[in-house]
Amino acid sequence: SRLGRCAVTSNEPRPFVVGNWKMNLTEAAAAALARALVDRLPLDRIDVAIAPPFPCLRAVIDAVTGSPLAVAAQNMHWEPQGAFTGEVAAPLLSAMGVRYVIVGHSERRNLFGETDAIVCKKVGAARRHGLIPIICVGEHEGERDRGRTREIVAAQIRAALADPAPDPVLETVIAYEPVWAIGTGRTPVATEITAAHGAIRAELDLYFGAAGASIPILYGGSVTAATAAALLRAPGVNGALVGGASLDAGSFAAIAVAAAAC
Ligand code: 13P
Repeated sequence: SRLGRCAVTSNEPRPFVVGNWKMNLTEAAAAALARALVDRLPLDRIDVAIAPPFPCLRAVIDAVTGSPLAVAAQNMHWEPQGAFTGEVAAPLLSAMGVRYVIVGHSERRNLFGETDAIVCKKVGAARRHGLIPIICVGEHEGERDRGRTREIVAAQIRAALADPAPDPVLETVIAYEPVWAIGTGRTPVATEITAAHGAIRAELDLYFGAAGASIPILYGGSVTAATAAALLRAPGVNGALVGGASLDAGSFAAIAVAAAAC
């Protein structure tokens, strides 16, 4: 029964791996990669989502239809429709069959002026329109050097959740992505990741209470087939948000297998 599934035993999140394809691939290449992933991912053991660029969503959704592989958008606007040239609305995405939306990625924050206040509005809009937000947080290198990581990620989570949203409040995913680890080949040591995830988990406990324990907290930043096992084994890590390595079916499948083993 539903009750049996949710209420009893462990509240631990199921491992979740997300591939953020960023501004890469053509429609045909995206569909081919999605088809390869449906064949190769251990989808019986973990949850996986892929986030193609907007123009590839239709082809990718068609390619994964009938499989448990979910599709995410990389961004969206907070208004449901209107005169916002070049933007994409949440209801449009959910009507297509998109299930998740990445919100507050550091590239959006740093290159496109996405503030905590905007992230908050997008989280609320995603929930209102049936999309599960994947909320990204993470510190800059200077902040890390000054020992401010826990404080920074906690403040980002607090700001992102500041808008009380309608049910189901628990449909949320968090990704901890240190800005200095994205695309650099550098990663934090396991104790740093565990500390950051602990600070995030404490904020989720405050906001959601005990029920928030089922919210996955992913690690992102230079996750590859070679680094995945060690990163995913850090206590408090419930999965990965993968950039560059998600563009290769073999690498992404290896990361997913590592996640399934944790
Ligand atoms: P890389 O895996 O390429 O470091 O990117 C991480 C990321 O930004 C995922 O959202």
